Amino acid sequence: MDIIRKNQALLKPNLLDYEKAYKQFSWEDAKNELSYFEDKTFNAAYNAIDRHTQTWRKNKIALYFESEKGERLSFTFYDLSILSNKAANVFRDLGLSRGKRAFIFLPRVPELFYAFLGIQKVGAIAGTLFSAFGPQALKDRLGDSNAEIVITNRALLPRVEKAKASLPNLKHIVVIDSPDFSKRMNKAKEVTHVAHMNWDEPAFMLYTSGTTGKPKGVVHRHGAILMEQLTAKWVLDLHDSDTYWCTADPGWVTGIAYEILGSWANGATTVVYEGRFDPAKWYEILQNYKITVWYTAPTAIRLLMAAGSDLVKKYNLSCLRHLCSVGEPLNPECVLWGQKVLGLPFHDNYWQTETGGIVIANYPSMDIKPGSMGKPVPGISAAILDDKGKKVSFGKEGNLAIKPGWPSQMKTIWRRPEKYKSYFQNGWYITGDRAWEDRWGYFWFVGRADDVIKTSGERVGPFEVESALMTHPAVVEAGVIGKPDPLRGEIIKAFVVLEKDVKPSEKLKKELAEYVKKQLAGHAYPREIDFIDKLPKTRSGKIMRRLLKAKELGLPEGDTSTLEEF
Ligand code: PRX
Repeated sequence: MDIIRKNQALLKPNLLDYEKAYKQFSWEDAKNELSYFEDKTFNAAYNAIDRHTQTWRKNKIALYFESEKGERLSFTFYDLSILSNKAANVFRDLGLSRGKRAFIFLPRVPELFYAFLGIQKVGAIAGTLFSAFGPQALKDRLGDSNAEIVITNRALLPRVEKAKASLPNLKHIVVIDSPDFSKRMNKAKEVTHVAHMNWDEPAFMLYTSGTTGKPKGVVHRHGAILMEQLTAKWVLDLHDSDTYWCTADPGWVTGIAYEILGSWANGATTVVYEGRFDPAKWYEILQNYKITVWYTAPTAIRLLMAAGSDLVKKYNLSCLRHLCSVGEPLNPECVLWGQKVLGLPFHDNYWQTETGGIVIANYPSMDIKPGSMGKPVPGISAAILDDKGKKVSFGKEGNLAIKPGWPSQMKTIWRRPEKYKSYFQNGWYITGDRAWEDRWGYFWFVGRADDVIKTSGERVGPFEVESALMTHPAVVEAGVIGKPDPLRGEIIKAFVVLEKDVKPSEKLKKELAEYVKKQLAGHAYPREIDFIDKLPKTRSGKIMRRLLKAKELGLPEGDTSTLEEF
């Protein structure tokens, strides 16, 4: 197999000798990387932004923003410090305090970033909501977290209004493009008391999907920023001379960890583009902002590959020096395409909402084996276990597990301690992913151990989509699976049982897809729908999605002893 030799660029990688760093690493020593208040407490937002204002970075650009319409703005670390102080004061005036939840429901606009930091400065828990969410998705998340404040804009406000009636704890809806918010921000003081937080106190939370039930609130502590800072330094290799673009949305964990906390904790100049994916526009951003470090996702890379090499040749992308990818399996072809067309391979890395930061990665100072996720980051012990929790030998597939105790390991699942506990077995955190390790310590991804769907890198729970479909009057029940797709990794496919008097039609399929898009989320709708008479179920009444998938893919059906009938 091809091995891509390590980067020989002039800029020395931050992590020069992986093996040595891995051996010598201690979390206690690493804590010195953060800045603390005199009483030894600290705050993640202070570490991301404010501490730089005490150094030469004060007037360094922290954020270049380009709106969908082409408006351009830039913010220094000092600007973000002041804006987030003001936001903290505005939120305090509205009654926000330590431990309470404030959620941000915005597209990628500057207000999202300083509101997030402002909430953390208050000592409250900052939550994010992907801007494609519909009223049902909002209800589930805001209801479960008992959020008191939602920060949104006029365009998204109607969806919050629709959800509001079932959210008795929601006290304030802050609309960032309203005269009221401008007035409050103008009047707010530029200084604030940044809450002194202990290591373990919650800093942010976001909802993610599993196989069963509604999405769960993964809560992270202030201490998570240490992991995010270190991995942004080692894996993304951020230097002061870099201009960095992370294409993720802060509605998901990558945007929080590597577009706000970890990247800014390293003092990185970060580019944020509000608009959607578009190959020409993306190349334009890479060219015009002279991006040097680019962190993106396999689906985007595959879509760029599909857009053809004539397009990419029109742009000068010579500033790029380091490329990273996350969120779904990165095919070797993508790594090699980067090498061929951009002159640089993509470095795959692996992590989850629950791990709060990158745990396995390919580093610039290490040879890449295309198709492998790389090696555990210093401070992380990863292993492949069998179903009983025993380590398996090299080359054998099993459950990917991590030794608990790293700083960005989730603190808890909001109000669901049992769910939290269910992640652990025999002293290991079980990721829910299947993988294998080669004898050189590289980890290789195989697939999910459960029914979680990854579509265009976004994690979707089948249960949520099934529930949304079932609220449509034509639907009796639905079973939802991820169907492999060459571009998007997986697409959502639904098997729908219709009411007796409803006639199946192509028009109805479209209507159901649109319905889910509107109710649940713009990204979490079934791109394919089949009407069937009956869903395969276990004797206890659970939908056997595994069987639906096997039938769809023409695979053997495996153990069907618990099957009711099909
Ligand atoms: O299945 C794995 C897949 O994405 C899941 C985590 O998704 P989420 O919580 O949305 O976190 C996204 C932030 C990284 C994992 O359980 N996944 C993530 N990275 C990779 C991956 N699958 C294969 N290769 C990866 N590099």
